Amino acid sequence: MTNKNLIDLEAMTPQQIDKIIKKAKKIMQSPADYRHACDGKILATLFYEPSTRTQMSFQTAMLKLGGRTIGFDNPMNSSVSKGENLKDTITIVSGYSDIIAIRHPVEGTAMASSLYSDVPVINCGDGGHLHPTQTLTDIVTLSIEKGRLDNLKIGVCGDLLNGRTVHSLIKTLAKYENNSFVLISTKELSVPLYIIDILEKNGCKYEFSNSLADAIVDLDMLYMTRIQRERFSSEADYEAQKNVFVLDKEKLDKAKDDMIILHPLPRVNEITVDIDDDPRALYFKQAQYGMFGRMALILMLLQDDEFTISERTTIISEHKCNNSKCITQSEPYLPKLSYEKKGMIMCDFCDKRID
Ligand code: CP
Repeated sequence: MTNKNLIDLEAMTPQQIDKIIKKAKKIMQSPADYRHACDGKILATLFYEPSTRTQMSFQTAMLKLGGRTIGFDNPMNSSVSKGENLKDTITIVSGYSDIIAIRHPVEGTAMASSLYSDVPVINCGDGGHLHPTQTLTDIVTLSIEKGRLDNLKIGVCGDLLNGRTVHSLIKTLAKYENNSFVLISTKELSVPLYIIDILEKNGCKYEFSNSLADAIVDLDMLYMTRIQRERFSSEADYEAQKNVFVLDKEKLDKAKDDMIILHPLPRVNEITVDIDDDPRALYFKQAQYGMFGRMALILMLLQDDEFTISERTTIISEHKCNNSKCITQSEPYLPKLSYEKKGMIMCDFCDKRID
């Protein structure tokens, strides 16, 4: 095991995040200086769930640093299809590679993987839980395009319940001074309570809205998200939500001239295509910045001995996590790891309450 895993961006200090942003900017300015920075190193990308940006930008990041990549983008083409468990897959791949980037549809999988890896594990999305390198992408973009991570009025819109990118983003930006949030969603897809707890703990102002047209007027950043069909249990539930919030020219006309629009992508129809050429629409640029952020992250995890990520104190719990979406349900050999928060016992894998 190593303490250089990126499971949750919350475990990084603002100083560490700042170091990654600065490194990403340096790489952007002189990419040739980093062409051999990872010569001889191997990145394994284990994608149990579809991806375009995260997987390819990690692969490109390693190739641009002089390293190489192995992995799968469909577990059914690996021995997972024969029933191999996560522990065995990670143990084996950790022996073949220097760093692992994993995406999985089940919450807590990256954390579980880190228990069986001798090399750093990067969480590239675990179910509806977290997506920390997307947040890295978002804050590198904010830092470059707005010049700051504080004093921002941030609108987040769409599927705030299942949107792991939104959870990671709010958790991170809540730590910076004087940021306030407008949570734009239907009642059914509003943010989980633990995110509200984080906003309150950090003293952030926040408000709920069910009107994008009203909320947009004084935002510094609008973060649009997709309604994720794959997270709904029925097609009817998805149909009822899918077109509720659409950013179109008419709504964008009400926004400030310097508001920026970000989106983790993929987009379905929540931003109309005719907005793409508006200078405020930065979502394609954002995906490009993400690659540089990932290059910086790989360098920090592989080469900077001082760059260790703190781990919370865990205890072995009496109770099993009963979140049906938690990795402990499908990988029963996992230890019952938990941690204490405000007197409650929380699952160390999926962060849900278990007592
Ligand atoms: N933003 C994001 O995670 O995109 P992909 O699903 O294409 O990786």
